[in-house]
Amino acid sequence: MAEPLTSDEPATGRSAGTGAAWSLAEREALLVLEDAFAQHERIAVSFSGAEDVALVDLAVRVRGPDVPVFSLDTGRLHPETHRFLETVREHYGIVIETLSPDPDEVNRLVRDKGLFSFYRDGHGECCAIRKIEPLTRKLGLLDAWITGQRADQSVTREGLPVAQDDLAFSTAQHRLRKFNPLANWTGADVWDYIRRREVPYNTLHDQGFRSIGCEPCTRPVGPHQHEREGRWWWEDNAHKECGLHAQNVAEPIRIIGR
Ligand code: ADX
Ligand code: SF4
Repeated sequence: MAEPLTSDEPATGRSAGTGAAWSLAEREALLVLEDAFAQHERIAVSFSGAEDVALVDLAVRVRGPDVPVFSLDTGRLHPETHRFLETVREHYGIVIETLSPDPDEVNRLVRDKGLFSFYRDGHGECCAIRKIEPLTRKLGLLDAWITGQRADQSVTREGLPVAQDDLAFSTAQHRLRKFNPLANWTGADVWDYIRRREVPYNTLHDQGFRSIGCEPCTRPVGPHQHEREGRWWWEDNAHKECGLHAQNVAEPIRIIGR
């Protein structure tokens, strides 16, 4: 169960960043997580190894250290992200299941197109092999998953609900729910939370990285750039989804094997 409210925690109202230790957004996230875990036994948190560590912290508060967490290890993550996954594992005493892509599919792609084909013909094919196929395998074993998506992250995420049917990964035989407890958080909320609760964070954030994905497809952004400008920067903003959250875009990327 969630940590109980204490008497000095206001029931409503956002913290101004440094004042109240309790915000409407934080309360909502905890309630969404409580509901999600109460409704579904076969459920897991998807953790990218970036600032969505706030989601892991919240989930541990609600569910304790046996919270199921998985991460898609694409084979192209920064070394800092691998180290951070280990830091989080040790800090919370949790198991982080790392999911690897099908080696035959990776070998075929690299043999046919090299290691950086996404710069030439878009990130869809590589993401489908390195992220979507292992995610599809994992989600086939679950009834619901929990993500750290926020509405303010991208034009493709505006209006993101805290709970939804997963239209990209559900099938006629298997309905999948998706929870986005941080949907209504801002980036500032996330960093306020991380600082306030002394949550460990990926050291790449100290090097100017805001949104973090795979190493070849992520770069730091300047102070006046949107965080998403550091992801797949050679592509159009309206298409910056890799298929994990394909339902956020009008034309979902083809999901292999489905
Ligand atoms: S992405 O689709 O553009 O890569 P983003 O980096 O914004 O997604 O992360 C949003 C959420 O998607 C994360 O909080 C996490 O729930 C999930 N996610 C993204 N990348 C991964 C990953 N490598 N492993 C597990 N979950 C991920
Ligand atoms: Fe491949 Fe880049 Fe997608 Fe990672 S983010 S799976 S390297 S295209």
